[in-house]
Amino acid sequence: EKAGYDHFMIKEIHEEPGAVRDTLTEMDDVMRVVKEIGEVERVCFVACGTSYHASLVGKYLFESILGIPTDVILASEFRYSARALTDRTLAVFISQSGETADTLNALRSANSRAKTLAIVNVLGSSATREAQHVLYTRAGPEIGVAATKTYVSQLTIIYMLVAAMGAPELIEKLEKVPAIMEEALGDEDNIRALSSHYSNVSDFFFIGRGFSYPTALEGALKLKEITYIHGEGYAAGELKHGPLALIDDGVPVVAISPPGPCHDKTLSNVEEVRARGARVIGVGSTLDEALRKEADDFIGLSPEVDEVLSPLVYIVPLQLLSYYVSVERGLDPDKPKNLAKCVTVE
Ligand code: F6R
Repeated sequence: EKAGYDHFMIKEIHEEPGAVRDTLTEMDDVMRVVKEIGEVERVCFVACGTSYHASLVGKYLFESILGIPTDVILASEFRYSARALTDRTLAVFISQSGETADTLNALRSANSRAKTLAIVNVLGSSATREAQHVLYTRAGPEIGVAATKTYVSQLTIIYMLVAAMGAPELIEKLEKVPAIMEEALGDEDNIRALSSHYSNVSDFFFIGRGFSYPTALEGALKLKEITYIHGEGYAAGELKHGPLALIDDGVPVVAISPPGPCHDKTLSNVEEVRARGARVIGVGSTLDEALRKEADDFIGLSPEVDEVLSPLVYIVPLQLLSYYVSVERGLDPDKPKNLAKCVTVE
């Protein structure tokens, strides 16, 4: 059932282009739900873990493209922050399993105060029965404990939601994503080879700005989960406010820097960490000679992918990096210790 792959995780990473393609077939459903929801003055995303990182991308999209003020709240913190939910607030609950206790509890408490929408992968799960509106990600069953293909499907649905709410031009861009992901997967041998340099380090930093900040957080979460190496995701501009003190000779820093308005600022942050001895893994456009020059290792992605689209594509090599570091360390990436696929306790 692993279809010739060593682990479910790597099989599921390879299923990402298909997962995005299948999720894109849901556009009619997205349009229907947007119509049913009606007017929205605020958006509030609620989720845990990887689904929380997808939500953060949602915030950048809703605010920068649609101009709708958007909050993102960890489901386990939802009850502690007095939220002014109203009948014009759209509360979006993102959950692969649809069974996460923290997310379900938040959904129950929001149901009487706001419009609620669940974005879920598992058909018929609790969240789909309790939310007022439901959209499905079409990633298919995910067996590996680390969320991979379901993350890109969640992102796809969020982009489609933004498209349906006022940015139809996004659709054409999204349709190109599966082929670009396939190209990114074609670079697997390079990523496997460079992973071997990093199997014995104790810390990793992931930095990015704007749309690449959630990618940095998600890259660090994948690393922690399946390699047991300490990984931290940071907004690149935040480094100088503390964590720069931790950058020393040989500390790996993954710099996520797609082409776009944030690029040059991120590059200056790369120069800062290099000056302190960091070993830089640059992730950027294949045409980005400046980043390639600053980086010890380089992962090149299609120059067609701009900042706005980058969360969908730039996470692919980071998942592969974590996977190969995990394998290199002799671990089973499908079954990280202390973690369950579905967290039904608070
Ligand atoms: C990370 C991971 C977890 C889940 C989190 C939420 O790889 O799998 O962080 O994302 O437990 O789960 P769902 O999306 O099922 O609510």
